[in-house]
Amino acid sequence: MTMLSVSSVPRVLSLFPLALASLVVVGTVRLFLENCSHPEKIICHSSAIEPPLFSSTNFLSNWSQCNIYDGKWVLDNASRPLYKEEDCPYLANQVTCQRNGRPDSLYQNWRWQPNGCTLPRFDARKLLEILRNKRLMFIGDSIQRSQFQSMVCLLQSVIPDGKKSIHRAPSMKIFKAEDFNATVVFYWAPFIVESNSDHAVKHTVHKRLVKLDSIEKHSQHWKGVDVLVFESYVWWMYSPLINATNGTPYIVEEYKVTTAYELALRTWANWIDTNINPQTQKELGMEDWK
Ligand SMILES: *[C@@H]1O[C@H](CO)[C@@H](O)[C@H](O)[C@H]1NC(C)=O
Ligand SMILES: *[C@@H]1O[C@H](CO)[C@@H](O)[C@H](O)[C@H]1NC(C)=O
Ligand SMILES: *[C@@H]1O[C@H](CO)[C@@H](O)[C@H](O)[C@H]1NC(C)=O
Ligand SMILES: *[C@@H]1O[C@H](CO)[C@@H](O)[C@H](O)[C@H]1NC(C)=O
Ligand SMILES: *[C@@H]1O[C@H](CO)[C@@H](O)[C@H](O)[C@H]1NC(C)=O
Repeated sequence: MTMLSVSSVPRVLSLFPLALASLVVVGTVRLFLENCSHPEKIICHSSAIEPPLFSSTNFLSNWSQCNIYDGKWVLDNASRPLYKEEDCPYLANQVTCQRNGRPDSLYQNWRWQPNGCTLPRFDARKLLEILRNKRLMFIGDSIQRSQFQSMVCLLQSVIPDGKKSIHRAPSMKIFKAEDFNATVVFYWAPFIVESNSDHAVKHTVHKRLVKLDSIEKHSQHWKGVDVLVFESYVWWMYSPLINATNGTPYIVEEYKVTTAYELALRTWANWIDTNINPQTQKELGMEDWK
């Protein structure tokens, strides 16, 4: 397991807000636009930016008034859980709490309730329709893998057997909904940038080494993906110092984790800046919800 108790590393606790801020969704406006004839080139006429997701019938039209991060968890026995563990064949043993013997089950019934609005109930068919001919990719560590599995479980419930599949390709786990030609991918990159923990399975490396300025090996697989969701946190928390290279590939230095994390995020942000076109693609970060 890659989890590490936060309380056991108080010295790096201050990383937490930064980590939350790094949960960023980069969705191309292509997702919302049906007017883009060359998806792989991301060429869309800017007058076409009238995305249905932001129309008056959708909660996102209220996004400027509603900070969805300002709210609380409420127990909702009526509408939760959204799926039952035993109904989803794609969960890894690591996350099948009930099958692993967890005695309580109420933890599945929490629902996030923003103070300023109510989120619409998750609608698998609607999302599959939005993802038609598109790819949604989750990039990060095992926390992100859980997000991926959860998304797959939510979507797969409305797809009949034989019309859905999951397979591995190195560093990736790929779920496909055949009738929609929709793809949901998990990409293992626990530090987002390159590291010696990048092997899809054999990644429990105790002498961690992160290449703070190198991202291309991973990012080549992100190009052209319609929606990218990034997360990286847990793997930085192993110790307050981390060995890394930056600039010169063979010079390994010990960095404070907070410094290393920031440098890695800068590398990532530079990639975003040079590969995402703000005219045609949209970046959703926490600031967008305020
Ligand atoms: C689609 O793009 C063309 C220009 O390429 C534009 O003239 C047309 O109005 C757009 N259609 C919609 C529905 O926005
Ligand atoms: C959007 O906001 C208005 C009031 O500003 C509210 O009446 C409406 O229910 C909100 N819609 C959604 C989907 O939350
Ligand atoms: C939900 O169900 C549990 C167990 O049946 C119960 O203890 C709890 O009070 C219920 N919560 C609500 C809000 O109904
Ligand atoms: C299926 O989806 C992929 C993107 O995942 C896209 O490149 C391809 O053109 C789609 N196929 C069809 C027939 O639309
Ligand atoms: C960094 O690498 C050196 C040499 O292998 C090692 O002695 C040191 O413990 C490592 N530091 C960390 C924080 O892993």
